Amino acid sequence: MKESISKDEGDQAQIDIWNYVCGFTSMAVVKCAVDLGIPDVLVNPMTLSELSSALNCSPSALYRIMRFLIHRGIFKETVNDNKDQLESIIYAQTPLSKLLIKNGANSMVDLLLLETSPVMLAPWLSLSARALADDASSFQAANGEDLWRYAAENPAHSKLIDNAMGCMARITVPAILDHHPEVFEGITSLVDVGGGNGTALSILVKACPWIKGINFDLPHVVSAAPHYDGVEHVGGNMFESVPKADAVFIMFYMTGTTKSV
Ligand SMILES: C[S@@+](CC[C@H](N)C(=O)[O-])C[C@H]1O[C@@H](n2cnc3c(N)ncnc32)[C@H](O)[C@@H]1O
Repeated sequence: MKESISKDEGDQAQIDIWNYVCGFTSMAVVKCAVDLGIPDVLVNPMTLSELSSALNCSPSALYRIMRFLIHRGIFKETVNDNKDQLESIIYAQTPLSKLLIKNGANSMVDLLLLETSPVMLAPWLSLSARALADDASSFQAANGEDLWRYAAENPAHSKLIDNAMGCMARITVPAILDHHPEVFEGITSLVDVGGGNGTALSILVKACPWIKGINFDLPHVVSAAPHYDGVEHVGGNMFESVPKADAVFIMFYMTGTTKSV
């Protein structure tokens, strides 16, 4: 039976489809803001003229980028009655733009840089491969190998992952410590399995100095990890064995990707 679509439904569909066709723009423009360093430079409110000089950017291109970002609540503007557009618009931060400051409190920059990398976007563009094949992840279909093998062979991508995981750890671990500090009472040693570059443990042992931290991850990850007091880095494969400790801590932001390591 033919299903009838009302004119209103058809019209709405014509509008909605544009959100899908142009869905990539939100991510692209936010990445552009981070790459240009707009949130880092805009510490105090600035005119378009001041901002474009500080960033060494074309004012007209910057104006259009800022319009998009303001529309999404990333930055805000006030307009004064100066006839010169370069001087009449004053831009300022919002709570959202502050999360895009490099090294800022609760910064999401490192995670954004990972997720907007061509390597991480490619699997999404071949998501259908996941449905068509039982054994290959879409990451593997797009990039030729498992994420962790790929990272082992591509140190720049590995660093992007480690930094992004550190960014998550800086948000998650203080929340765990705030809400459930009792979890860490009576533990003298703790192994973080898949602990990345050790950011999570570094925060944990600082807050709970009675704990000896063992950061366990793949050899290529721990060999590039910075030194943290109270944290020992150990390289290995968690599917074979993990170092002994009173407790195991596992925090995985991405799932389903470690199968073949
Ligand atoms: C999604 S990250 C999680 C990082 C960190 N726990 C966090 O949430 O911030 C997964 C980590 O597991 C590590 N990993 C993957 N396969 C592993 C394996 N077989 N043995 C040990 N670590 C592994 C990766 O190198 C990566 O650092």
